[in-house]
Amino acid sequence: MVICYSLTHLQRELSLISDNYKTGFVPTMGALHQGHISLVKRAHELSDKVIVSIFVNPTQFNNPLDLERYPRTVEEDCKRLEEAGADIVFVPTVGDIYPQKDERMFDLGGLDSVGEGPRRPGHFNGVAQVVTRLFDIVKPRYAYFGEKDFQQLSIIRYFTKELNYPVEIISCPTIREEDGLAMSSRNMLLTTEQRAVAPLIYKTLKMARERSQAQILSPDELCNWVTGEINSNSMLKTEYVEIVNSLTLRLVKNWNDHEQIQMCVAVFAGSVRLIDNIKLK
Ligand code: PAF
Repeated sequence: MVICYSLTHLQRELSLISDNYKTGFVPTMGALHQGHISLVKRAHELSDKVIVSIFVNPTQFNNPLDLERYPRTVEEDCKRLEEAGADIVFVPTVGDIYPQKDERMFDLGGLDSVGEGPRRPGHFNGVAQVVTRLFDIVKPRYAYFGEKDFQQLSIIRYFTKELNYPVEIISCPTIREEDGLAMSSRNMLLTTEQRAVAPLIYKTLKMARERSQAQILSPDELCNWVTGEINSNSMLKTEYVEIVNSLTLRLVKNWNDHEQIQMCVAVFAGSVRLIDNIKLK
């Protein structure tokens, strides 16, 4: 496995890859866990060469404190990537990705009007900036993203198509701890007490899925119920609980108006913000 700490090194390595090879790309912000490793393994199945980037993208953080304390574990990450069979790891500098200030504003098709969008202004535009920049550099055939970031995945699919990138976006299922907590780099910021109560989030989502099938509660009522259940634990505080059409991400008011429905939540455990989602239909 080759580790490239600069754009020029990466470009040299990419130039050695045969044009006939299908390259698979896994963009990450590091602090890798089993969820990322599952993306790398999936990439291996479909691609001849697997490239992983590790870059904590400053433009997608609307909160400077969040950026500052985002976990950085590059050395360990590289060890795990080597074991998982990555071929190239790209660890660029901010200057490599943004030689000048990126002022681009992306059309996100209104997919950012719910969920994370209004709560993290500029976040998805920053994701679009870094992902398009990385696609321009790496020119992958396939790119892999986890379903834990359900809204991010929809938005990346949208602008990839809109901007005609010849990249196939492959989604991979959320990987969970044994107790159901969705794996996330942020989990390592949880205190022992917070970590102990965090599984309540997914437990409640699963109960919500059962309740949605009975259709006794309206979507709004079900969101209120989930909010109450999660907040009944004094260490957790929901930021939002939303039920959206899985394709348009519009809020769902009536169960029968939509064929595919997802419930998405963001929950604070202290100052650590956790997100999760579940398919209801
Ligand atoms: O999901 C992430 O880790 C990041 O948002 C991504 C896609 C690597 C862009 O920085």
